[in-house]
Amino acid sequence: MVSAGVAPKQICVIADEAGLVKGQHWAQFFNCPVNPESLDPYFFRFYVEGDRVYVRDAEKRLLEIDFDKNHLDYERKGHRGKSELIAKALGAAKGCRKVLDLSVGMGIDSVFLTQLGFQVVGVERSPVLYALLTEAFAKTKKEYLKSYQLHFGNSLDFLREQKGKVEVDSIYFDPMYPHKKKSSLPKQEMVVFRDLVGHDDDASLVLEEALSWPVKRVVVKRPMQAEELLPGVIHSFEGKVVRYDSYVVR
Ligand SMILES: C[S@@+](CC[C@H](N)C(=O)[O-])C[C@H]1O[C@@H](n2cnc3c(N)ncnc32)[C@H](O)[C@@H]1O
Repeated sequence: MVSAGVAPKQICVIADEAGLVKGQHWAQFFNCPVNPESLDPYFFRFYVEGDRVYVRDAEKRLLEIDFDKNHLDYERKGHRGKSELIAKALGAAKGCRKVLDLSVGMGIDSVFLTQLGFQVVGVERSPVLYALLTEAFAKTKKEYLKSYQLHFGNSLDFLREQKGKVEVDSIYFDPMYPHKKKSSLPKQEMVVFRDLVGHDDDASLVLEEALSWPVKRVVVKRPMQAEELLPGVIHSFEGKVVRYDSYVVR
């Protein structure tokens, strides 16, 4: 069973010979079978084919994280470094270098931040996304991603347990938004992603906890038209479809 605040849907692992050891590892992590006789009971299928790892749902929609393939625009050529909105919001120009990403998801923002020169520590609570991310970080040839620190679990627990132990300059949070939000994911990936992740109904609790950390910035990504996650935004860095709400400016 795989759940992260979502109605649990069953998962199984399908591994070929070359991926069997890895497949067994993730099956143990998900607490699910490997290569079952029938796939019918399993809405999500986690495929391990050698070092390629991906998920398909029962409708055969694909979700894959591969930082080198660039099917999700991980390689953002022509970016504007510290002038990128996200970098400004996180205080790059003020010397902020180390960021805690409380919502790694597909890793799109995290990878971009790393590309922009930030050191990133990330937390993800969806077991399947964590597995896909772990494999993608292990497999990538991009040197700048090798120092990425990925953690599995709920950010709320991470924030409570690691306060004063993990030193970061800024905190970044991009919870799911319940209404329509222009997504950086193509349609089929978005469907699988939403099914895996659910609603992040606890987002304001996470933000409240983040605001108690001694950092220079706490930044929340929101769709342009969305209300603030919590009152108290000091500055909004506005793009065309999203904005970055900054809560602390030290
Ligand atoms: C909108 S997506 C983030 C997308 C991400 N910024 C990207 O660029 O791919 C939200 C993600 O944050 C994760 N998430 C939300 N709240 C979380 C929490 N309290 N603890 C851990 N992960 C969380 C969800 O599981 C989901 O994968």
